[in-house]
Amino acid sequence: MKKIDILQKLESSGIVAVIRRPNREEVLPLAKALVEGGVTTLEVTVDTPDVYGIIQELKQELGEHALVGAGTVLDAETAKAAIDAGAQFIFSPNYNKPLIEMANRYGVVSIPGVMTPSEMVDAYQAGADVVKVFPARAMGPSYIKDVQGPLGHIPMIPTGGINKDNAGEYIENGAIAVGAGGSLIDKNLLADKDYQGLTERARQFTERVQSA
Ligand code: 3PG
Repeated sequence: MKKIDILQKLESSGIVAVIRRPNREEVLPLAKALVEGGVTTLEVTVDTPDVYGIIQELKQELGEHALVGAGTVLDAETAKAAIDAGAQFIFSPNYNKPLIEMANRYGVVSIPGVMTPSEMVDAYQAGADVVKVFPARAMGPSYIKDVQGPLGHIPMIPTGGINKDNAGEYIENGAIAVGAGGSLIDKNLLADKDYQGLTERARQFTERVQSA
C-alpha cells in the first residue's frame, strides 16, 4: 500500500491500538475483537516476543481490514526488520533521524515520539509523516491545541494516558488520531478472554473519536 493510502486509513481510523507484550495465543482474537469494534490500526510493540511473526500473521489474517505496524522502535535496524515483516507504519517513543530515513526509503510511514515544539519541527523536517506526542498525559488535550496554532501543518497523534473519556477532546483540539494501550486493551478483560468486552470497549472509543 502506498504511503498516502496508509496515512489516509490511519487518519480515518482515528485510533491506534498499542498492543504491548500480549500472550502469543491471544494476539489474533484480540486483534479481531479490536477491528470488530472499529479500531483498525494496530501497533505491536517490538518488545513483544515473536513480534515479526505476529506482524506477518496479522497482515495475513486481517488483510485489507486493518493497518498493522510496529511500535517502540528505537533505531533504523529494528525499523528495517519490522518493514521486512510487513509493518506499514513505525511508531517510536523518541525521534531518531536514521530511522525516519529508513522508513522513507521503503515507503513506510514513520511516527516518532516528540514533546517540545522544537522536536516536532526537527522530526517533521527530517521526513516524519506524523509525530507522536508522548507522553500526552503529561500535557493534556489543551497542549495539542496550543502547538497546532503555529504548527498546524504537522499531523499529531497524542499517546500515553488516552482513555475513552478524553480521546475525543484530543481530536477536537487538532490531533489526527490518538494512540491507546492500557485503557483500550483492558488487562482484566484480556485475562478473562472477554473478547466481546474488548470489542465493546473499542466501540466506545471509536464512537467518541468519530463524533469529535
Ligand atoms: C505505551 O507506551 O504503551 C503507549 O504509550 C500507550 O500508553 P497507555 O497504556 O497509557 O495508553
